[in-house]
Amino acid sequence: MNFECIIVETKEKVGVITLNRPKALNALNDQLMSELGHALTAFDQDDGIHCIILTGSEKAFAAGADIASMVDYTFMDTYKGNFITRNWETIRTIRKPVIAAVAGYALGGGCELTMMCDFIIAADNAKFGQPEIKLATIPGAGGTQRLPRAISKSKAMDMCLTGRMMDATEAERAGLVSRIVPLEMLMEEALNAANTIASMSLPAVLMIKESVNRSYETTLAEGVHFERRMFQATFGTEDQKEGMRAFLEKRPAEFKHR
Ligand code: CAA
Repeated sequence: MNFECIIVETKEKVGVITLNRPKALNALNDQLMSELGHALTAFDQDDGIHCIILTGSEKAFAAGADIASMVDYTFMDTYKGNFITRNWETIRTIRKPVIAAVAGYALGGGCELTMMCDFIIAADNAKFGQPEIKLATIPGAGGTQRLPRAISKSKAMDMCLTGRMMDATEAERAGLVSRIVPLEMLMEEALNAANTIASMSLPAVLMIKESVNRSYETTLAEGVHFERRMFQATFGTEDQKEGMRAFLEKRPAEFKHR
């Protein structure tokens, strides 16, 4: 498939998707989201890919949903056309880890997209925000739900109600971001993290992603129950035997599913 709004590359076992609408600061229009969905699904189905990185430009990860495309929408256009959900949910179905490597603006739908990834590595120039209030609308791709879970109710209210931006330091302090690196190190750091994940046993990687995500959707007791079943399932894999034997024999593990 030919893509116009994203660039898709593979680096060994890592799939890299770069949002690429530089003139609009990677504003997320239908075409971009559709291409992103296709690329993510293709990497998820590719046995040679074990981890995915989603990134943008040095100036913008993404400055939000495309305002020019939305300006004249009526309620019925959005409701009947199921805007935003119609092509924003694919990323939530991806089973392999997706790392957001964020430089510059991650605003509105851009910030929401980073929160749909599994973790965020930020460049020191990254800026996060939910400025929809300034347009007299509200976050529409999970911002009011994922932000409070990520950074607390008080800070999420502050961000969504004032529309202010948070810099990388504040985002890391608040727990939105897992690491901050100098801008020029962003892709190196993201690739190092992705390669580390890709060197692990794939079934264990998938089970960890599924288990951590379960914590958002269920009670603690149910989540712990789910985790225990996943833990027990790892004992049905060859990789668990190899991982534990390799540790005891003081040698590197040779995982079959890696
Ligand atoms: N949609 C469409 N185009 C956008 C855009 C967006 N979200 N953000 C930026 N652009 C365009 C600008 O219109 C401009 O285009 P032209 O050169 O053709 O005029 C170009 O990108 C560069 O932008 P600026 O000139 O504004 O650049 P700047 O450096 O002065 O400012 C910025 C950068 C602070 C990010 C500013 O562009 C901005 O505030 N953008 C809008 C951010 C926003 O409101 N996002 C939320 C969108 S709604 C949403 O996302 C809903 C949801 O929950 C899914």
